[in-house]
Amino acid sequence: MPISKRATETLAIQSPMSESFFESLGKLHDPVLNPTGALNLGVAHNDLLQQKIFEKAQECLQITPEDINYGAAEGSPRLRQLLRDFFTRHFNPIYPIHWQDIFAQTGAGASINQLFMVINDPGDYCLIPTPYYGALDYDVQVNTGVKIFPAHLHHPDLNNMTVNPDLLESHYQRAQSEGKKITSMIVTNPENPLGRCYSAQDIKVFLSFGSKHQIHMVFDEIYALSTYGQLLDEKKEDPFVSVLSLPYKDFIDPTLIHVVYGLSKDFAINGFRVGFIIDQFNGPLKSALCRGAYTSTITDRLIFNLFSDEKWIDGYLLENRQALAESYKKTTQFLKTHDVDYIEAEAGPFMLLDLRKYVEPTFEANKLLWRRLLDSGVYFAQGVGFYTPEPGYLRLTFALPWSGR
Ligand SMILES: Cc1ncc(COP(=O)(O)O)c(C=O)c1O
Repeated sequence: MPISKRATETLAIQSPMSESFFESLGKLHDPVLNPTGALNLGVAHNDLLQQKIFEKAQECLQITPEDINYGAAEGSPRLRQLLRDFFTRHFNPIYPIHWQDIFAQTGAGASINQLFMVINDPGDYCLIPTPYYGALDYDVQVNTGVKIFPAHLHHPDLNNMTVNPDLLESHYQRAQSEGKKITSMIVTNPENPLGRCYSAQDIKVFLSFGSKHQIHMVFDEIYALSTYGQLLDEKKEDPFVSVLSLPYKDFIDPTLIHVVYGLSKDFAINGFRVGFIIDQFNGPLKSALCRGAYTSTITDRLIFNLFSDEKWIDGYLLENRQALAESYKKTTQFLKTHDVDYIEAEAGPFMLLDLRKYVEPTFEANKLLWRRLLDSGVYFAQGVGFYTPEPGYLRLTFALPWSGR
């Protein structure tokens, strides 16, 4: 019996990032199954405070008789109320966030997929600036019928995050001329794989662009609280600016603004599968979101217990930033000593290595190098998986404890 047309289309979706990860799977280090396997420096995970979060999670894990029953699809009111306080403390929202604006999902990836089920129709295109987090290929496209239109926005200088409105517009016009209808855009801020943030001015450029073309704007802010650039240079402020902190109603119809957050990165609990959509003004969308997701009541209670301890949460976030800054400093010193170029980062557990002076300028040569590194014991994520405009880049996760040497 054949499967549905939708599922057949889904199986045809390509994601170079996920494919190279699958290729590495049997070769990665595992203390029991593969003790001599390759060190995993390719997945965007933060191991720095793993023990601390593990102990706290153990303390928070609890089941009550009431948890055996169905919970609320979009998360319990008590959890959403706590999250309202959390987002209000850390994202500086200009329009007060109400707990009814927050929708629990099974991860940020699932949140994006859920949003695209609701905001776009099959055949629509979503514009995404490159380089971008390669698994968006799945998150945006699986079962939605929506397609991605990649736009090289930071080419040729990946160090420069400033958004050129004319360049952005020219990508939209190119899509038009190819008969592709752009109905949405994703802005990942802080960016993955660049590990850098957009300024308030850049975000305003995005908002004006979204308004001009009346398209949905999805802001993926999953790395929001993993900024550390301000700890490396006292003169710098926290580089992260949430779209929620800007008067976005002045720039765009606010029903077009959607924010995604999750606990996999800043809280390093990717196995728990927790993400959120924050939507402040789109009533029909909010109603639609209440029909999806269904996080487990056990997870709901665990996260509720965790976020009830405000002092712990805020202390953890500070310690995490300090640990990221420390590890970034050590890593960049190491890279300098070994004459490896990199894109300077300020947020998140990874950075982009620039190996262009060491490898031929082809994606094939890049892949060969990547495979050689994997066979020699280190797994990186390939730049091609993030649609870097040129070959020669690898993403390195530096949020791992150093062995002391
Ligand atoms: C930018 C970005 N968005 C979303 C995700 C997915 O996160 P989750 O584990 O919450 O699905 C990731 C994971 O790497 C990411 O980097």
